[in-house]
Amino acid sequence: MEKRKFSKLEVTLIVLFCLVVVVLCVLIGLLATKDSPSDVEFSPSCPALATAQRVDCIPDQLATKSLCSRRGCCWSPLGDPNVPWCYFSSDHGYRVDGPLVTTQQGLQAPLARLPSPSLFGRDIDNLLLITQHQTPNRLRFKITDPNNQRYEVSHEHVGSFTGPAASNLKYEVQVQHKPFGIKVIRASTGKVVFDTTIGPLVYAEQFLQLSIWLPGANIYGVGEHIHKRYQHDLNWRVWPIFNRGTNPSANVENLYGAHTFFLCLEDESGASLGVFLMNSNAMDIAMQPAPAVTYRVIGGVLDFYVFLGDTPEQVVQEYVQFIGLPALPSYWSLGFQLSRYNYTSLDQVKTVVEQNRALGLPYDVQYIDIDYMEDWKDFTYDKERFRDLPKFRTFLHQQGQKYILILDAAIGIDPMADGSPYLAYERGQGRGVWLNESDGRTPLVGKVWPGLTVFPDFTNPECSDWWLQECKIFYDQVPYDGLWIDMNEATNLLEGSTKGCEDNEYNYPPFTPHVVNRLLYSMTTCMDARQKLGLQYDLHNLYGYSMAIATQRAIQAVFPGKRSFLLSRSTFAGSGKFTGHWLGDNTASWDDLKWAIPGMLEFGLFGIPYIGADICGFFMDTTEELCRRWMQVGAFYPFSRNHNSEECAPQDPAVFGADSLLVNSSKHYLIIRYTLLPYLYSLFYRAHTRGDTVLRPLLHEFYSENATWSVDRQFLWGPGLLISPVLDPGVEVIQAYIPDAVWYDYDSGASIGQRKQWVDLYLPADKMGLHLRGGHIFPAQQPATTTVASRKNPLGLIVALDDKKEAAGELFWDDGESTGTIELQTYIFYDFRVSNNVLEMQVLHHGYTDPNQLRFTQVKVLGVTSGAQKVTVTQKGQEIPSPHIVTYHNQTQVLEITNLELELGEDYRLEWS
Ligand code: NOJ
Repeated sequence: MEKRKFSKLEVTLIVLFCLVVVVLCVLIGLLATKDSPSDVEFSPSCPALATAQRVDCIPDQLATKSLCSRRGCCWSPLGDPNVPWCYFSSDHGYRVDGPLVTTQQGLQAPLARLPSPSLFGRDIDNLLLITQHQTPNRLRFKITDPNNQRYEVSHEHVGSFTGPAASNLKYEVQVQHKPFGIKVIRASTGKVVFDTTIGPLVYAEQFLQLSIWLPGANIYGVGEHIHKRYQHDLNWRVWPIFNRGTNPSANVENLYGAHTFFLCLEDESGASLGVFLMNSNAMDIAMQPAPAVTYRVIGGVLDFYVFLGDTPEQVVQEYVQFIGLPALPSYWSLGFQLSRYNYTSLDQVKTVVEQNRALGLPYDVQYIDIDYMEDWKDFTYDKERFRDLPKFRTFLHQQGQKYILILDAAIGIDPMADGSPYLAYERGQGRGVWLNESDGRTPLVGKVWPGLTVFPDFTNPECSDWWLQECKIFYDQVPYDGLWIDMNEATNLLEGSTKGCEDNEYNYPPFTPHVVNRLLYSMTTCMDARQKLGLQYDLHNLYGYSMAIATQRAIQAVFPGKRSFLLSRSTFAGSGKFTGHWLGDNTASWDDLKWAIPGMLEFGLFGIPYIGADICGFFMDTTEELCRRWMQVGAFYPFSRNHNSEECAPQDPAVFGADSLLVNSSKHYLIIRYTLLPYLYSLFYRAHTRGDTVLRPLLHEFYSENATWSVDRQFLWGPGLLISPVLDPGVEVIQAYIPDAVWYDYDSGASIGQRKQWVDLYLPADKMGLHLRGGHIFPAQQPATTTVASRKNPLGLIVALDDKKEAAGELFWDDGESTGTIELQTYIFYDFRVSNNVLEMQVLHHGYTDPNQLRFTQVKVLGVTSGAQKVTVTQKGQEIPSPHIVTYHNQTQVLEITNLELELGEDYRLEWS
């Protein structure tokens, strides 16, 4: 065969082609070397490291040797699949690239990236570190890109810090230069309590990472998830944070709220630390046994706050004061509440109300779920099945009860079924208040209960005004007492939108945290959607927060001067200032009954003390036993509501029969709740003014006893009331931890004589464990079936004496519903103290006169070992005539003083002998 010869032109073309290929290869090679040098060029330093200290270099997928080497990390496979096989070398990260300068507020230094392969691309080479020594206990350090503005959270409460740096710092800051790391040292002990040198700083366009080595393995917080236990499992657990309207389950899933705060108890001294990352992007928070915590965030900036405290409670106070102190609830919202999804008509609701009223059960609030709406549209009501809804509030008010209305986030776009315009939508549309597609103009359409919907953009002041107006217009048609806002993650039953979502870096970032389906827009809107304040990618976790702020504004317009009520499913750091929260769509299971306690304790850390879980369980049919045990413990949830889902058997107490065990036991504990409401309300006053927890973990009061560090089957109300419920089927004896104090059985008033030990508590079907802590005084009031009625009843005190026969307590009392009573000082504040058989009742603030001429008529003193027959009452140093009756119970050592006539707002001194 004859060989064909190439023409000159062909040869030239081939040579040209080859040249282009060579040039391209060189270019690609150069680019590749820039972002990820070949294995030959980068050989990581991999010092011997305890496995617990490895920081995962492949958090996004299954680790392989070749990927590990491409990332320049250290490869060392182990038998344990949980331990990272590929971990960061000491060559990753940044170095301090210039002088560490002292500023007015703290320190400042430039950082430069160390040459190393990139994990996810677009690393930022030069950064700026600033530290601010904001208070003696609070340090902020922030790492930003000095050359490009990145997204930062615009928070309603947390403002900018202008300095100067605080003095008398409880901490020292040390900066390690290469690789860059920051250490916080507790000044009083010299102990390093926060140390990022365990892992590298990673700072790329869409992937930011920092690890923190901690001084103790007692870590609590980070949410919202089902952690099952309050104390974190540090065995390489990863918790995604990205708000999602999922039904909480045993799986690791991101739930409704975003809380990037955790608390670490250092040791038995109580010394504790809090860490908060101000960032609203999606993230993973990984726990490892070092003990260490790693934040892996896909946007924004690294803006950390470190809080130091002498006790866990002090750290929570500092954090909560920083993000915004929680709202003071209306007194009535501390009452028991009933709800369900799928009441078929208003008549049915009224029947349920009447049946439960007839039980004589304390019961303040009735809800109606979305069933009242026409076509499930906000601000409408079904004119047939719920014809008389406009009169429902009056029906409830006649018996001192309240009505809560639900509103969903999404707004239907279709006209009403009869073809008439859906006015709330039309008005919003006219004002351009929706979240838009990526073009910033076209409203993004999703799907929720009403069918196709848009999503209000609550970061837009115009939207907030529209929402306020709608709440007002509807209130004029259907008066209500408070609002429940739901589906505000925002939940979308479509993936992204009716059009799906574009393939871009926001909808498909290079690293997706371990969110459900590993898809950010799963069950919500597209991430490239636009809000007034920016991209959904950045703002998603703030949706519920912004809705709560807008709704609180609406509430203030609808109820001028009144606190009313707000409950939100989705929350962010600082939501407690505006709203309460419930733990979402739990299941009628014994597991869910148990998991509610860690869940509620966590929301205490997050500054949302008005918290509860659906009593008796939302999904699935409950059982009598489960519901009975749940009603018992639920009587001590700060937010106490029995709520049920649409297809499940009714579970309001009345369905179990008027004289049933369930009803009697529920009544017994709700009556105790109502008796102690003045105590609970005073705890909320402390939460509102100081950031105290209300539902309190045992470790906050008894940190020196390490047995308390993992207790989450029991909890306290404030410092003094210990609640030990039954949380398992068929159980009548529970193991309860009784901390080191004198404890009195609530029912009998007798000292239990056990302390600092695990005990078996016998709790038959109608009982749960309730103990009063010696050293505390509990203000109380004779209970009634509503708070409107109970607030008119006589007051009392329960005094529980400690080893020294002393006790102290306080009472905050105002009208229970006006806003600003603290600022206006329209309240009464009492300090109570007992020592040497003398009770001093001292009014520290007198700015309120109760219209009910309230009096303390009863004082019960527990632990009076010496007996007592006589009580004298003095006022302003003079003994006053008093018609009281003294009864001393020998067996229980309880002194009861009844028939007293001590006026609320006056000082008294009672002495017994
Ligand atoms: C979801 C909420 O979590 C639940 O409590 C409510 O009943 C349903 N939405 C229906 O509104």
